[in-house]
Amino acid sequence: MTAALSDAGLICQDHGVIDIDAALASLSLSDKCRLVAGRTTWETCAFPEAGIPAIKMSDGPTGIRGEGHGGGGTPGVAVPAGITLGATWDPALLREIGSLLGLEARRKSAHVLLGPNVNLHRTPVGGRTFECYSEDPELTAALATEYVRGVQSHDVAVTVKHFVCNDTEIERMTVNVQVDDRTLRELYLRPFEATVRDAGAWGVMSAYNQLNGEFCAHHRGLLTDILRTEWGFDGFVVSDWFGVHDATPAANAGLNIEMPAPVRVYGDKLVASVERGEVTEAQVDSLVRDILVLAQRVRADERSAHDPEESVDDPAERALTRRAAVSGTVLLRNESIDGTPVLPFDAATLTSVAVIGPNATIDRSMGGGSASLVPFGHRTLLDAITDRIGPGTSTNAAITFEAGVRIDRLTPVAPRRQLVQPNGEPGLHIEYINGRDWTGDTVVEQTAPSSMVRFFGSTPAGIDPRGFATRITGSFVPDTDGPLVIGVVSTGPFIIDIDGTTIIDDTQMELPRSEEFFGYGSVEATATVVCTAGVPLELNLRWATSEKNGFAALRVGFRSPEPADLMDRAVAAAAAADIAIIMVGTNDEWETEGFDRTTMDLPGRQNELVRRIVAANPRTAVIVNAGSPVTMDWADAADDRSARAVLTSFFAGQEQAESLVDVLLGDADPGGRLPTTIPVRLADHPAYLHHRPDHDSAGNGTQVYGEGLFIGYRGYDARDIAPRFAFGHGLSYGSASWGDAVITSESADSITVEVPVAGIGSRAATVVVQGYIAAIDAPCIRPPKELKTWDKFVVEPGASETAQLKFPRSVFRRWDTATSDWVVDAGEYELVIAASATDIRQRLRVTIK
Ligand code: BGC
Repeated sequence: MTAALSDAGLICQDHGVIDIDAALASLSLSDKCRLVAGRTTWETCAFPEAGIPAIKMSDGPTGIRGEGHGGGGTPGVAVPAGITLGATWDPALLREIGSLLGLEARRKSAHVLLGPNVNLHRTPVGGRTFECYSEDPELTAALATEYVRGVQSHDVAVTVKHFVCNDTEIERMTVNVQVDDRTLRELYLRPFEATVRDAGAWGVMSAYNQLNGEFCAHHRGLLTDILRTEWGFDGFVVSDWFGVHDATPAANAGLNIEMPAPVRVYGDKLVASVERGEVTEAQVDSLVRDILVLAQRVRADERSAHDPEESVDDPAERALTRRAAVSGTVLLRNESIDGTPVLPFDAATLTSVAVIGPNATIDRSMGGGSASLVPFGHRTLLDAITDRIGPGTSTNAAITFEAGVRIDRLTPVAPRRQLVQPNGEPGLHIEYINGRDWTGDTVVEQTAPSSMVRFFGSTPAGIDPRGFATRITGSFVPDTDGPLVIGVVSTGPFIIDIDGTTIIDDTQMELPRSEEFFGYGSVEATATVVCTAGVPLELNLRWATSEKNGFAALRVGFRSPEPADLMDRAVAAAAAADIAIIMVGTNDEWETEGFDRTTMDLPGRQNELVRRIVAANPRTAVIVNAGSPVTMDWADAADDRSARAVLTSFFAGQEQAESLVDVLLGDADPGGRLPTTIPVRLADHPAYLHHRPDHDSAGNGTQVYGEGLFIGYRGYDARDIAPRFAFGHGLSYGSASWGDAVITSESADSITVEVPVAGIGSRAATVVVQGYIAAIDAPCIRPPKELKTWDKFVVEPGASETAQLKFPRSVFRRWDTATSDWVVDAGEYELVIAASATDIRQRLRVTIK
């Protein structure tokens, strides 16, 4: 398939039976001001007499989380993270994924999916880089457009987020992003423009940050002038959660819904703004009208927000998510030993396999924060490889496992299997009490599946979300003897007893706040107890919401001492096996909403581990299981301390483990290409000198996008800095030879280039022919090249295919600051035909009139 900019108009569909005019006319001003604020964490208010149903929203974007109260949630499909989907370079696949998620939303009785996230990879260390597709605006736009079409084909709305420039988590609720108009238009707004204009997105979520001095949720230039007037958006804008601050500017800007409840900004305060004459009632009517249009589009009158949430684990959907994970797996390096590439491994010849690494026995298939959800199960790489080639299979290989290192950021959360409720069932028992006094009467009881408890969701019936307490009881069963460190992070006051003795008491909330839980959590407080393997420790925890907080959660972790020979054991296991597979990376605590990473380095001693493992066994495949670029200084030179085979599928969702084994054993070809540059070191990335905010005397932070247009490969190109792995790079197991690219048609509207590609060698090859443009004599600065189109396909051995690249006239446009409009400069351009941003195969000169 070919992807390129398209000018298709808005999707118009005939929907629903809500009589919008009649409904609007029957509401009082106070009702209308209430309707524009959420009723719960996820729902809007219903006005049954006016025929207005509640609308339920759900995160997003990698699955549908549902209500998810108390750390639980209805298990659901977990598709690959945005960056993995970005690596597929396959808009048609994104359409299928979007459609699956639309269906999932219906199963979770949600009318609105809070995604896709189309912010850009401005730096390699953004806390939410894993959620976003790419550093490139056109790749992001093409993929997101199809995702939106897929979701909305089920009468489920999207909220394309976060509008705009929420590209860092540093001071995310307040930071003022200073960006020039041209950069904003050509890069950061582009995916929003495409999803609105080409796919007819029904919803947009405003970003937390300020844009050039104005909160995005209050920004009329953004929410009305650009979005509605210029792009013709006819949907609704929802605030990011707690991201709206003042009724008058928000309403006048065109912010339709304040989320979540309890209402803080709209409601009575909006009534007062109208009474003071700061907001007209007509403006409130127009905000309400958009919500009624939404209700109609998603047929909220036909399916209730309160229908029970369903879990459907469908084999065909598993197959789709597995195909997507394979398609987003990037083979970065694959050197030969004795003339044969290390990968794929030949299962028939294997007698022993060493599986190494902290991420090989824990499922790390998604990042942290609102994009995470409860999957159907947790398959690990060790499970998948053992089931495919381990004892009892036709390969019957001996499989050994060694973690080698630890990478925990905080004390590790206890899994369900190590927790026992007082009634003997797995998990922890939670009693909810209304009010902040935890000695009060129990109103509701629940089970927490792990010792991470997030109270962010609809409060159980009978519990007041504005202030409640819990008593959490059960026991933790250690699997080691000796000292055990117990750590607690909490958003509110708490006290924890172990075996009847208080070990940490923060009832006065004296612990300083930290980056945890989006900045609402305390630093981790720890205490040490002595335990015996298998002997339960009785746990009694009392916790309450804080008076100030919007977000409520706590986590309890348990850490036994690290064995001194952990790494040596892994090296010995690798040396003794035919092959080694080492899975290094991060996890949902290193990569999450709430903060950016401060380094690109793998946590813990993982670099040292990789070097020692590849030295011990050259037939090692290194899997990088991280949601964004990491330093891989062991992946360059062909010496015996460098890894010969390296692949990544980032955070690949529920089928991560199976898809990795598909690729390792050659049952599938790694189909991915990097959607983002992997630099040699952090300091090389173009935004490096501008990646933290500066502060004025009042402490207000400003984040200047000083690198301007030179995001990602545009910046490496311009400064002639070689990346470790270039944007667009990715190897296939097959080989293909590219013939001469030829312009096959050229008109005032469009140019088509064709590239013949022949399959050579013994395996089918996945090919992605990339088409960039380079302006030769532009009247102003332009990036050395800009991706505009590509064609991805598989070519069989001995067969040939023709890549088709279309360059419509619109791809040559740039934003002209003088006229505040798009222009296409007449002049000379090159069409750059490439296999990656640094693997350029041909340049074709064209003249644009
Ligand atoms: C995130 C949004 C998310 C919302 C609801 C916010 O913290 O920024 O992306 O949709 O929470 O969970």
